[in-house]
Amino acid sequence: MKRKILAFVSACAVVLSACSSNGAADKEITETASEAVMSNIAEEMVMPDISDNFLQELYIAKKRGKALVKRVEDTAATDGSALLIYNRIESWNGAEYDCEKFRGNDINVKGSFRSAGASVRVSIQYDINGNTSYNSICTVKTNNDSYSEVNGDFTVPDNAEKIIVYIESDTLDDIYTDNFSIRTIGEYKYIAEVGDIDFADTSAYPSLKELYGDYFRMGIAISPTIAANKDYSAFVCRQFNSVTMENNFKPEAVLDHNKTVSDVEKYMESPALSFEHLRTELDFARDNGMTVRGHTLVWHSQTPEWLFYKNYAVGDELADRELMLKRMENYIKSVMEWSNENYPGLISSWDVVNEAADDNNKMRESLWYKTIGEDYIEQAFAFARKYAPEGTKLFYNDYNSYMPSKQNCILGFLKPVAEQGNLDGVGMQSHINTEIGVGTFMSALEKYHSELGVEIQITELDVAVKKGDGWEEKQGDYYGSFLSALVDEQKKGVPVTSVTVWGLTDSMSWKAADHPLLMNDDLTPKPAFEAVVKAAE
Ligand code: XIL
Repeated sequence: MKRKILAFVSACAVVLSACSSNGAADKEITETASEAVMSNIAEEMVMPDISDNFLQELYIAKKRGKALVKRVEDTAATDGSALLIYNRIESWNGAEYDCEKFRGNDINVKGSFRSAGASVRVSIQYDINGNTSYNSICTVKTNNDSYSEVNGDFTVPDNAEKIIVYIESDTLDDIYTDNFSIRTIGEYKYIAEVGDIDFADTSAYPSLKELYGDYFRMGIAISPTIAANKDYSAFVCRQFNSVTMENNFKPEAVLDHNKTVSDVEKYMESPALSFEHLRTELDFARDNGMTVRGHTLVWHSQTPEWLFYKNYAVGDELADRELMLKRMENYIKSVMEWSNENYPGLISSWDVVNEAADDNNKMRESLWYKTIGEDYIEQAFAFARKYAPEGTKLFYNDYNSYMPSKQNCILGFLKPVAEQGNLDGVGMQSHINTEIGVGTFMSALEKYHSELGVEIQITELDVAVKKGDGWEEKQGDYYGSFLSALVDEQKKGVPVTSVTVWGLTDSMSWKAADHPLLMNDDLTPKPAFEAVVKAAE
């Protein structure tokens, strides 16, 4: 992989240059830098250090999305001053910091937050070769009276661009921020710009879809960038025969806020939708003979809060059950109809409901649950059955679904759906790690099949591992035994019909810090890919 690392400067040298006005420091830098144009040390090579306790009117936080930010006096804050983030229309709206200078560095992010919402999160966004990834760095439980502090570390990839660290939360409540900082851990390296990736020739790699062809489909989560890039797409076409849109089929991508609120009466029972952004990925799937997993229709996350308010105005009156049932029905109907008219037969399965169980093994008290009531899952599946083209498989999808208590909760609410004939499969997301027993996982998988009489798909596979001696081999071993066990299940007669990995390369993963995927950035195989190949052979 070629990267234009213009200068590599040790932190101490740069700090010296920053503090010194005489020539001595510059001289020292010239001696410590490796491959640089060092005649004058550019200002941008100074180790970045973002830290703000919001005492000044001038701050470097920028608004994100429609949110607004301002400095306010706040007796609960240190020094009586804080940053207020308000007017948040979508949960990702917040405050953001340009972090381009942290490219390739280990960073620590720290802050104190208060909010009426249950938690606040600090996340990072960046592009790798044009593909945008979002990762969470740290999350803290919050209350509205006092500040809760949190910090977290993250390694920003060498080839990341448009790097932004931002403050967000799952609700639309205001967020007060105090003592916020982003700093490098250890030695600072300055990478001026990212060069083109020198991709490996992947045409001769063994093909996963062929190797597993007798057992199940092999799938991958994609983005428009993957579909449009010739190296990525060539690899994906050769390796996989199923794709899932990593983000673009989610309600927040499909619901059109501006159009809906432009005529609330007109859109009262059927919010406006937009689909054109899906074409790159869907054309790619259709033109290359792949099938698509539709992901997802009814979910608490990545679904804008305004959808649940009577007049689409957050904070006003919530919509009642009758109205929300209409909106749910019309949403499902419109998505199914658009897909079927524009891409007939392409979508083989839909994740009708996603993540309805919470982490305490109860039904999640989402806004779907609050507005419609406990039977919202049954209702969603009934609508999906009504409008899905014949043969489309309807799935329930969740994470940690192998855990016994969570599984019991899920089985509890899925049984009526199965009895009504509206459930065809359970999607086990499988955001797992190398410590999770493969046997435990497979027993849970068998139980879904035996108790509900449905097929199983592994829908979002990624395997986190801690870096350390032999981590790549350890991860490979895990991937290998996981895939072999799935093949064994299939041979035993448990219908495992597809296995989807949640992304292409580690630094493009939503969990980049856990390096959980099969491929390196330049598409050379990780031991994990090799192990998956071997498990089939
Ligand atoms: C993740 C995507 O990978 C990220 O790009 C996005 O920022 C957040 O969502 N469960 C799901 C997936 O069902 O849709 C989520 O995907 C990961 C967890």
